[in-house]
Amino acid sequence: MSGQEIPAPPLRTPYKMGRFDLSHRVVLAPLTRQRSYKNVPQPHAILYYSQRTSKGGLLIAEATGVSDTAQGYPDTPGIWTKEQVEAWKPIVDAVHAKGGIFFCQIWHVGRVSNTGFQPNGQAPISSTDKLLTTQLRGSGFDVAQFTTPRRLRTDEIPNIVNDFRLAARNAIEAGFDGVEIHGAHGYLIEQFMKDQVNDRTDQYGGSLENRCRFAVEIVEAIVNEIGADRVGIKISPFATYSEAGDSNPKALGQYMVEQLNKYGILYCHMVEPRTATVGEISLCLHNPVPMRNLFKGTFIVTGGYTREDGNSAVAENRADLVAYGRFFLANPDLPKRFELDAPLNKYDRETFYISDPVIGYTDYPFLEGTA
Ligand SMILES: Cc1cc2nc3c(=O)[nH]c(=O)nc-3n(C[C@H](O)[C@H](O)[C@H](O)COP(=O)(O)O)c2cc1C
Repeated sequence: MSGQEIPAPPLRTPYKMGRFDLSHRVVLAPLTRQRSYKNVPQPHAILYYSQRTSKGGLLIAEATGVSDTAQGYPDTPGIWTKEQVEAWKPIVDAVHAKGGIFFCQIWHVGRVSNTGFQPNGQAPISSTDKLLTTQLRGSGFDVAQFTTPRRLRTDEIPNIVNDFRLAARNAIEAGFDGVEIHGAHGYLIEQFMKDQVNDRTDQYGGSLENRCRFAVEIVEAIVNEIGADRVGIKISPFATYSEAGDSNPKALGQYMVEQLNKYGILYCHMVEPRTATVGEISLCLHNPVPMRNLFKGTFIVTGGYTREDGNSAVAENRADLVAYGRFFLANPDLPKRFELDAPLNKYDRETFYISDPVIGYTDYPFLEGTA
């Protein structure tokens, strides 16, 4: 020993996120894994999430449906029934037992769906009745057939806001530390926000204020239900997933952040513009720093980050925390590997969305001696 202390890498430094004391800044990004048969979380998720838990680490659970109209993929979990809430409890308990902080990402796919996923074979709901034509969905690469959506009537919108509120209440009942509203990737909330999709003429369409009204009402309802200090939101103003682009993403992002500040929510999780298109190619088209500077709470970035990028983002104060998706999927001990600068397991895209309870799910190896 030389006696010289090597400073901890920025991702390894502690961070106080509201009431939560994080011991490092490597966050598990929400990852849909399609292993929640019939929309009910399964016991194999106990092992999956606890493998990815570190003491003082933040985990965000996979996108979780708020109602029976919220799904568009096979076997994604929900949180609207008693059975689902009960099924989440042992998973949340396992994360807490290892000292993790666990948020539930709550979700409605809107038109990124088809009649096969809907109750009584009805049409999916959306801000619009425009059919989604691309075969590429959200964060995945699976091919799907979409059904022409049904445009929500103005008087129905409060019911959907209420579904989000109840889902947040249920998440707390299940033991989660908070919720992340899924306001990204072309799903229902973005179908209202983005002008490529929203063609409404009521108070939920047209101006920026009107297009963001649905998102803001959801934030307000959830803040009133569970408290602002347990609420985060993920947004992707720059992304164009599922034909949900915006003509002025910068103005949209800044307007949303200003609204979030009014409610004092805990965090804003921003999909980096460089993953504006799906795939491995990173295009740095826009700059999220103005939003980072504007937002008063914790700022999480995600999208194509390596260990080095994450360390620089924190060191340069471009983010408080960095959420890792594919690396964390394949490396259950990612924070440890980053700390040691150890090699990473490669992720296998073929097993991202298969329904096997082990393969590509809980069988990624740990560094020797750290499991
Ligand atoms: C298999 C898979 C599933 C995903 N599921 C979700 C999801 O449920 N909710 C969400 O907001 N993002 C989802 N994403 C996006 C990730 O949260 C993350 O933002 C994205 O993968 C970029 O981070 P990365 O480059 O570190 O993988 C998913 C990504 C992958 C690869």
